[in-house]
Amino acid sequence: MKGKVNWVSYLEKQSVEMHGMKKDNRILHKQKIYGIKPQAQKFPMMCVLSFIYVCNAKCPNCPYTNSQIRADYKDRPFMEESTFKIIADQCGEYGAWVRISGGGEPMLHPKAVELMEYAKNVGAKVGLITNGSLFTEASSTRLLEAQIDMIEFSVDAGDSKTYAKVRRGLKWDVLLRNVKRIATIRNRLKSSTKIIASSVNQVDVDIDAIAKYWEPLVDNFQKRKYLTWGINDPSKSADPAPYLPLTERIPCPFIFERLNIDSRGKVMVCGFDIAGKTDMGNIHERSIKEIWHGEEYQYYRQMHLSRRGQEIELCRNCPDWQYRSWKHNYWKIVKKAEKKRRSQVEPLDFQESEGCVKDV
Ligand SMILES: C[S@@+](CC[C@H](N)C(=O)[O-])C[C@H]1O[C@@H](n2cnc3c(N)ncnc32)[C@H](O)[C@@H]1O
Ligand code: SF4
Repeated sequence: MKGKVNWVSYLEKQSVEMHGMKKDNRILHKQKIYGIKPQAQKFPMMCVLSFIYVCNAKCPNCPYTNSQIRADYKDRPFMEESTFKIIADQCGEYGAWVRISGGGEPMLHPKAVELMEYAKNVGAKVGLITNGSLFTEASSTRLLEAQIDMIEFSVDAGDSKTYAKVRRGLKWDVLLRNVKRIATIRNRLKSSTKIIASSVNQVDVDIDAIAKYWEPLVDNFQKRKYLTWGINDPSKSADPAPYLPLTERIPCPFIFERLNIDSRGKVMVCGFDIAGKTDMGNIHERSIKEIWHGEEYQYYRQMHLSRRGQEIELCRNCPDWQYRSWKHNYWKIVKKAEKKRRSQVEPLDFQESEGCVKDV
């Protein structure tokens, strides 16, 4: 892309009215304007980290189980402490989320707990996506005392038989013990950590039964659309109905709110690029803020806003674009989880603030 663009004013001019979707597509897109979210004007709302590429499981639906990506990252299987701290410091300055995930299990990182404590101490919000297999009483307590903002357990099943199939290598009893223990300690400590469970909606699992099982145990339950990243078998999705109609090429919401960083510190344009094909800049060379406002991101945003996203090779080949939503998103999940958390740890205050207890 040639020349510098004042992309904030560009976005103001280019704001595009959003189209509603038909009811049978389930999610109604009512947002009036596409473009950068107000909370992301200065800095991304969320930095999603590929914190680790090593795993203790072999989930058959996982794109890392089904690809060479882990092998390609064998020079840097864990994010180094120094890389993490650069990210945490900058997120801390803006109160942004550090969302810890990746091509493996974050709790296998030798400094996982210490680094999450660090991120909270410098003011970042911290979300952890985990398979839930590796928590001890001590690590659970430390994370809850640090008040990390969210622990997302990827459960994928509501019974031991299904779990053994979809979470190969992990133990159902261990997951249950760890989730229940974290919920109990959280409530005892009145920690502000929210706890959710997620499940991929794939064939051979009963997503409604899974939701019914987990909803009473956690603050929120998240159905994840089965994604392929261009790697997995698309026929395994139990609910392929798109959120975004492909023909309209609605702008992809991710490039307007978040970015992804690999263990080497390289920023990839979005969560589809798990193999690290794109290079938006490295956080060891440029600040996250500079990268977020850099020409590379401006180019992607402008192309998407002018409905020309499909002219970008990566976007044209992204089968997961249709499952990104402007309406059904992480922020809603956080909000709902917080409501339930409050009802668990502060039942009386919560009821009063909700107007359940009448003044006398
Ligand atoms: C790759 S995992 C890494 C973190 C951790 N090991 C875990 O399992 O939570 C990150 C998230 O991707 C989800 N995931 C894996 N395969 C998926 C698929 N085919 N479609 C949608 N989400 C998937 C997992 O369930 C998990 O919530
Ligand atoms: S536990 Fe997570 S990273 Fe490991 S194989 Fe399963 S989905 Fe992939």
